Amino acid sequence: MTTAAIPPAVVERLRCPRCGGPVTGEGRLVCVDGHEVPQREGYLDCSSEPRDAATSSTFASFGYEWTRFDKVQPEDERFFRGYFTEVDLPSVRGAVGLDAGCGKGRFSRFMAGHLEAIVALDGSDAVTAAVRNLGDIPNACVVRADLRRAPFHEGSFGFVSCLGVLHHLTDPEEGFHAVVRMLAPGGTLLTYLYSRPTRVGVRSVSLQAATLLRRLTTRLPHTVTRLMSAPIAATLYAGVVLPGSLGERQGNRFLAGLPLAVYRGSPVRALWLDTFDRLSAPVETRYVWEDVRPWFERAGLDVQSVAERGGLVIVARRPGHPAAVPSPG
Ligand SMILES: C[S@@+](CC[C@H](N)C(=O)[O-])C[C@H]1O[C@@H](n2cnc3c(N)ncnc32)[C@H](O)[C@@H]1O
Ligand SMILES: [Zn+2]
Repeated sequence: MTTAAIPPAVVERLRCPRCGGPVTGEGRLVCVDGHEVPQREGYLDCSSEPRDAATSSTFASFGYEWTRFDKVQPEDERFFRGYFTEVDLPSVRGAVGLDAGCGKGRFSRFMAGHLEAIVALDGSDAVTAAVRNLGDIPNACVVRADLRRAPFHEGSFGFVSCLGVLHHLTDPEEGFHAVVRMLAPGGTLLTYLYSRPTRVGVRSVSLQAATLLRRLTTRLPHTVTRLMSAPIAATLYAGVVLPGSLGERQGNRFLAGLPLAVYRGSPVRALWLDTFDRLSAPVETRYVWEDVRPWFERAGLDVQSVAERGGLVIVARRPGHPAAVPSPG
């Protein structure tokens, strides 16, 4: 991404990370008070000191994750379609989008063609992978910032996705409201959150085992956790994913009902990545819909769909009519 490649629709929505004022420019981006928005290695660097130790270790963990598992893989398109099943993509066509907590930018990449422009935002070193994965997408722009202090005017985005992010914050509802603040009236929000099983079964037992293991693995060097995630993923793949696929093909309801169904048809590397993710992320919280319904109510959003797909996939809309460009606020 060269400086000139920042889509004008993104510049219009930017706020100076130092003073909050509007920003203008095509190459050099400068606010009314003369502060320049730093650009580094293809991304806008609006990062600040991590505000606490948990944020710092979360960024370190995901920076490691997305710079090791850094390629966009063919199976990512299938995951994209899974998350976006309930999103009416034609209705967001032409909107400016935000992928809050974009990681390596895999979903921003698939979203870009449906939107006027897309901001892929992340607080960690993952932005370097996102820059590589989005470098050939002219309407994409990578921004490094904490989503709780994102440098955009209120109501900037007609579409916001926040996939697999909020449950890694120490105060997920605070992050949720920070994301909603950036959603334009009439805009659509897609959220994916880890879910918590409500019945005892293979999934609840496996998650309990993972929670116990996390006590150790979140303290280990990332390389060790990554390497030990490989045999765990291979075992789960052979013992759960493949029998599940077989059960699906042969109409065996017990086998077809096994967990980890989202990995059926994907190579084992997808499960390796997610096993590492589960074992290394310093903070995680799991929810049922009733836990988070009040967030949406307090934010005044209209919930359009709630689906369980290896986690909670929620589509909501901010009431109102979209304005062309948000006013500075
Ligand atoms: C599990 S990854 C999901 C990445 C991407 N959405 C995907 O599904 O491929 C969570 C991402 O959220 C980012 N993240 C976590 N807390 C954040 C915060 N406060 N501000 C910005 N990004 C954050 C992490 O750096 C990480 O890349
Ligand atoms: Zn400024």
